[in-house]
Amino acid sequence: MISGRGQRGAAPPSSGDAGASTATAAPAASVPVIKAHGLTRDYVVGSELVRALRGLDLGIQRNEYVAIMGPSGSGKSTLMNVIGCLDTPTAGEYVLNGTRVSDLTDRELARVRNREIGFVFQTFNLLARSSAFHNVELPLLYAGMKPAERRARAEEALERVGLADRMRHRPNELSGGQRQRVAVARALVTRPALLLADEPTGNLDTATGDEVLALFEELHRQGQTIVVVTHEPDVAAHALRRVSIRDGRVESDIPTARAARPGGEGVGHTGAQAGTAAEEGRG
Ligand SMILES: Nc1ncnc2c1ncn2[C@@H]1O[C@H](COP(=O)(O)OP(=O)(O)O)[C@@H](O)[C@H]1O
Ligand SMILES: [Mg+2]
Repeated sequence: MISGRGQRGAAPPSSGDAGASTATAAPAASVPVIKAHGLTRDYVVGSELVRALRGLDLGIQRNEYVAIMGPSGSGKSTLMNVIGCLDTPTAGEYVLNGTRVSDLTDRELARVRNREIGFVFQTFNLLARSSAFHNVELPLLYAGMKPAERRARAEEALERVGLADRMRHRPNELSGGQRQRVAVARALVTRPALLLADEPTGNLDTATGDEVLALFEELHRQGQTIVVVTHEPDVAAHALRRVSIRDGRVESDIPTARAARPGGEGVGHTGAQAGTAAEEGRG
């Protein structure tokens, strides 16, 4: 399914954007992908104040695979919006891959979002009239990348999710699992620090969902940092760490059974360099 070009996974967010001259060796390696402290998000509804996040603390390191769980209304979507730079907290501090996001303007926020986050949604959110290729190319267009490089990167991302032979297909000419893989390719094409998925298998049958989760595991082995928001324990079980949210705070934060399994990849896994070896060593 994946074209074995995993080295990119853990690479710093890449050349394409803002001419970031990353000459130094993996400068961001020790920078947490997410550092949130005292995150608060209040919504004012009429005369009522809804406290969706109430001083939430969360740290996520490079190449972690984290599931965020919690009952309905616990603040998962609010947290995801803040993590994904779709929203800013009312109070508290949020640092995304070294950038303090809490007090950026909307415009700056959009730039950071485009550079650092790859989103995968429950409903795929693909452009229906556009080919898989064009859907995947689009974030690079927004980032101002030249056509030749866009094409190379989009093709590479589609190869990575096993869709090299489906690039010219439109979403309605693809299966549900293939659509979600296009969405994953679109999320990865900017080489984001974080792959952020909201119920990524919610619209898929079990077998197809498993296929997408297998893809996530593979990407994680290649060094990708992944956060999945889900209410399904089966989905969370694929991650290595489970953070449970309740009433806008972290209720528990524990390694999953998968992390504890002997040979559970990800434990002591150092990302890009180890990626191929870890993959080969897997039974
Ligand atoms: N845009 C909004 N305006 C007002 N209240 C909201 C809004 N979004 C969420 N809430 C409230 O914030 C709380 C957390 O919601 P949410 O983050 O959607 O939880 P979850 O995703 O875990 O179900 C809920 O009480 C919800 O009603
Ligand atoms: Mg929600």
